[in-house]
Amino acid sequence: MVGGRAPVAPDARGMDEVQLIVTGYALTIARGVLHRAGDIARTVAPAHRYAVIADDTTGGLYGERLAAVLSPTPVIQLRFPPGEASKTRETWSALTDALLDAGCGRDTTIVALGGGVTGDLAGFVAATYLRGVPYLQVPTSLLAMIDSSIGGKTGVDTSHGKNLVGAFHRPAAVIADPELLRTLPAEHVRAGLAEAVKHGVIADASLFDWIASHAAELLAEPDGPLMTECIARAVAIKARVVEADERESGLRKTLNFGHTIGHALERVTSYRLLHGDAVAIGMVVEARAAERVGIAEAGTAVRIAEALRALGLPTTPPEELVPERILAATPSDKKSRAGAVEYALPCRIGEMAGEAQGYGIRLEEEVVSKELGVRS
Ligand code: GLY
Repeated sequence: MVGGRAPVAPDARGMDEVQLIVTGYALTIARGVLHRAGDIARTVAPAHRYAVIADDTTGGLYGERLAAVLSPTPVIQLRFPPGEASKTRETWSALTDALLDAGCGRDTTIVALGGGVTGDLAGFVAATYLRGVPYLQVPTSLLAMIDSSIGGKTGVDTSHGKNLVGAFHRPAAVIADPELLRTLPAEHVRAGLAEAVKHGVIADASLFDWIASHAAELLAEPDGPLMTECIARAVAIKARVVEADERESGLRKTLNFGHTIGHALERVTSYRLLHGDAVAIGMVVEARAAERVGIAEAGTAVRIAEALRALGLPTTPPEELVPERILAATPSDKKSRAGAVEYALPCRIGEMAGEAQGYGIRLEEEVVSKELGVRS
């Protein structure tokens, strides 16, 4: 179980709307809540102008609808090409210049409309524009609803790795409308569910079992009531972790389970592997390594792999990637500091190991290398 002070506890079962307060801002999860985004924005982040930042795809789908509910406050729409390749200092710079060109002042509120890339990028623009302006997260992907829109991490990637330049900047609110998942491609639904599985592994064995046993329904109806329940339960875990350790000095590291290897896989595949797919593989590899060194209960990795397979997620690295290449892409900062890379590892489903070490556990490369080589 994760520790820390619990935010307002949700019970999504049978409820139309779930609201949580985390580090002072509200997360609202409700089908159809996009229509109320204007009321929420005017309450928590009143502005002279709203600047909606979205990629071309999501902006095309939902930009006008959002602008309509934000009116009569003037809205400007800023767009960038979709994909992780846009999460750079160059795009940050172009968006910042567009705000300056439009004469946006400190009375502007930025609205991040999109998935993880958009939330991180637009959040970083908000964190730095005129030394910081408010922003709202309106996640449109499952991954963003469950994970990346919550907790105030913003930033961009560099050639050295993911999220290496950024800032903590709390959103004024997170507005998650699961109805928007109707237009999300199936592979992104699946990839988002990998993060929900992760939240089950780190803190809630019953959520883990529930996702595994409802895999088919969740995939079949991504905008249905079961998905709303799944999002609410997964978000409650993230909220609890962030509330206890916003700046990642300990407990928040548990959210990195599967991510040390996951980020390396994304990097060596030039981000062709979706984040959730990479994290799915990373969770299995890291759990197997945890079992090998006696940290995790026997059978933990097999259970995780079975749940991920039920969701159609990959569980082993792509054939063409040799372990050495993947290991070479694990975080260089951690390597140079410690001589071994740090991992967040479970001791069993629902509980993470290493509380005494602040949840960062160093593993020798040869241990991880053996598990990266498993292809079954
Ligand atoms: N996605 C991991 C975190 O927010 O800390």
